[in-house]
Amino acid sequence: MGIVGAGPAGLTLARLLERAGIESVVLEDRTREHVEHRTRAGVLEHGTVDLLRDVGVGERLDREGIVHRGIHLQFAGARHHVPLAELAGGRGIVIYGQTEVVKDLIAARLESGHPLLFEVADVRLAGVETDRPRILFVHAGAQRELECDVVAGCDGFHGITRGSIPSELLRVYEREYPYGWLGILAAVAPSIDELVYAHHERGFALLSLRSPELSRYYIQCAPDEDADAWEDAHIWEELRRRTALDGWELEEGPILEKGVTGMRSFVADPMRHGRLFLVGDAAHIVPPTGAKGLNLAVADARTLAEALVEWYAGRGTAGLDAYSETCLRRVWRAEHFSYWMTSMLHRNGDDPFEEQLQLSQLRYVTSSRAAAASLAENYVGLTTIMA
Ligand code: FAD
Ligand code: PHB
Repeated sequence: MGIVGAGPAGLTLARLLERAGIESVVLEDRTREHVEHRTRAGVLEHGTVDLLRDVGVGERLDREGIVHRGIHLQFAGARHHVPLAELAGGRGIVIYGQTEVVKDLIAARLESGHPLLFEVADVRLAGVETDRPRILFVHAGAQRELECDVVAGCDGFHGITRGSIPSELLRVYEREYPYGWLGILAAVAPSIDELVYAHHERGFALLSLRSPELSRYYIQCAPDEDADAWEDAHIWEELRRRTALDGWELEEGPILEKGVTGMRSFVADPMRHGRLFLVGDAAHIVPPTGAKGLNLAVADARTLAEALVEWYAGRGTAGLDAYSETCLRRVWRAEHFSYWMTSMLHRNGDDPFEEQLQLSQLRYVTSSRAAAASLAENYVGLTTIMA
């Protein structure tokens, strides 16, 4: 197996295959340092946590991960609790940074002695329509070629593997949003016990965390804004205004990182061409409001690993043939949920009609048990229901 990309998708897939005795080579174009320190997602679904435990990388996660059984939705000056676990059959979420998941998976991979090459360059695919696809790349200054049974494209949205699917065979669905998130990581104890998603006339804000000493906060901004143009004091001021609540204070601290993320929905269909299988962000992107991106990547990896185990054991290609359809059913549910959460919470221009619809929807999900249960089961993950 050739795996392009050492993000959550590629590393999880490699680990699952390793446990099943299937050999793979993982090729990553960045440095280990870079991959381990890219601050991104922070919310793990129950199913993601179970999978990481099953493949033997749950020890630190169980020690340092923070279990949350609910979230808050804030609007019109009040904060409303959504008791996720109570509404979704006892399942909650775990706060554990993507950086930590990636570090744990890399450490396990290196310890196993199976190949994981960083800083490869010029990665190209050949023969994905044949039984012997090849990956051509440069490593340590030398041109190399890897012949494989199957190639997994785990190289994220900007990767090269999706480009090996002829455009006439690939249907792409896409939506860009007219806003982005300015995210900060701050060295201060989180001011909240559970995540706060805040709807505000000045724009959306999200209060999250990474650990008892590290807060992760976001504010809606323009998609192309320069994060460095935002002074720290201005960021805190904006966060305070958008999350203000009587009797509650937002604690400030040194900002360690800041960055702007654009918001996009994207689905490539099919997720397979010949012996090439796309996994995770290489095939689909969701806006982060539903906290689904990382969880979808891990779920794809699990589906592909199960199909490969079946195939290598001589039990046929049914799993591989169904891979794209199985994943896309789950992906589209997450696409809808992420789009819905995003549309409900962000300020979109000056449209008073839309604002009233958002407020009506927010009142509904915080007062109807049926509506709250729908949000809850999507948020904690429908992986058990939707394969
Ligand atoms: P990636 O994590 O993108 O990994 C792909 C890997 O492939 C990378 O290591 C990359 O360096 C490597 N690669 C790329 N091209 C090549 C090549 N040609 N050759 C070899 N290797 C290559 N999700 C949330 O749930 N919450 C968030 O707050 C959140 N914030 C995000 C912020 C940003 C800036 C981004 C980009 C994503 C964010 N996401 C978030 C989404 C989540 O992080 C992704 O869904 C998740 O990383 C997907 O994992 P992946 O392995 O599919 O892709
Ligand atoms: C995060 O902690 O980075 C985070 C949490 C929830 C989201 C998105 C990002 O919806």
